[in-house]
Amino acid sequence: MADDHPFPRGFLWGAATSAYQVEGSPLADGAGPSIWHRFTRTPGAVVNGETGDRACDHYGRWRADLEVLAELGLDAYRFSIAWGRVLPEGTGRVNGKGLDFYQRLVDGLLERGIQPMITLYHWDLPAALDDRGGWCNPDSPRWFADYAQVLFRALDDRVGHWVTLNEPWVSTVLGYLSGDHAPGRRGLAEPPWVAHHQLCAHAEAVAAYRALGCHQIGISLNLEPQHAVSDTAADQAAAVRRHAFINRWFLDPILFGRYPTALADIFGPAWPDFPDADLARIQAPLDFLGVNYYSRGLVCHDPAEQPLQARRITPNDRPCTAMDWEVYPAGLTETLLWLKQRCPTLPIYITENGAAFDDPDPVAGLVQDPRRVDYLREHLAAARLALEQGVDLRGYFAWSLLDNFEWSLGYAKRFGLVHVDFATQQRTIKASAAFYRAFIQAQRDA
Ligand code: FCB
Repeated sequence: MADDHPFPRGFLWGAATSAYQVEGSPLADGAGPSIWHRFTRTPGAVVNGETGDRACDHYGRWRADLEVLAELGLDAYRFSIAWGRVLPEGTGRVNGKGLDFYQRLVDGLLERGIQPMITLYHWDLPAALDDRGGWCNPDSPRWFADYAQVLFRALDDRVGHWVTLNEPWVSTVLGYLSGDHAPGRRGLAEPPWVAHHQLCAHAEAVAAYRALGCHQIGISLNLEPQHAVSDTAADQAAAVRRHAFINRWFLDPILFGRYPTALADIFGPAWPDFPDADLARIQAPLDFLGVNYYSRGLVCHDPAEQPLQARRITPNDRPCTAMDWEVYPAGLTETLLWLKQRCPTLPIYITENGAAFDDPDPVAGLVQDPRRVDYLREHLAAARLALEQGVDLRGYFAWSLLDNFEWSLGYAKRFGLVHVDFATQQRTIKASAAFYRAFIQAQRDA
């Protein structure tokens, strides 16, 4: 199966999940509730009123899930830590039982020869911190750095890769601008500060890691090329704005210590003057950049869409996933080549890539998901194309290991390589998992 250009030796093959999406038992063993625990109890917030209370019961079934990872022949597993399991109030007291869960998980992975990649924050802020203003509070970077240090001290002897934040753009824009995600706030005044405090939090955690850690630390950003739907000047300008808004809002300060000037135009008077000293700290060097890639943005001008005046459209003449996201593998190559120009020496991991489809039920111990097989095959080819053009790509993590709780869309959107029957918690391999296992094996044999 491997053709003439295998992936490099040592390339890390993995799969990813996040705590709230898979663990379930959100309050077990003394854990404190998160903003997602609270948000899912808000009427109308999540499709069918679903919650992460059970999810995949990974908290109870983690051993069996590690066996699944081993069966797939993966080198690495990216998962996130629920802040509130470790620090139920968000700051201060450490909950030993919560920390023990992650100690066991890390040890269990290593026993099976699988490297852990840990995300410190995948959107589940402790509710106690939201009561103190959440990411709007200028103390939030300090809270995060203190939490991160607890984990570095406990686990860095066994963990080679740390991700500070997952997709801070999504938690800022959906959490504080559109209100579609927890904590469900809407408005223009908070998002610039929420973004800034998350970037400061990232920087404080990286600084703490430089003092305490001896492996690698980075951040995972959602990146996607923005293409205008037509060549009118208005649509072209809309695509440029959306590019600054999505791709550069977090990347520019991290790489260059400044925000794109377009953001001041987009937010108007709501855009603050940020302290230079913060931006200098945010620019601290990273060991790697995590890229989460799903689709491209096909963009049109739309004055009704505030504050951006630009909107992503779903093309009706192109294959799309169950999320209505266009299947556009060339955008992965484009994104990686764009990064090579901007940060030529920074190693890159694809920390998420995958697709939701309306899969059939399992038959004879297998789920047939040919469209996900195609999606994976095409995106792996797109990644390899980038490697051939000199991108320093070090690994690939499929999203997701398991079907899971897809945030405000609940359980209907299935992204897993492995099917989960949410009534019985039965796991069933999908054809895409078998494809991925064979693909990885072929790389090793090449
Ligand atoms: C990403 C998130 C991840 C999952 C996928 C589909 O934006 O990081 O948790 O929801 O999308």
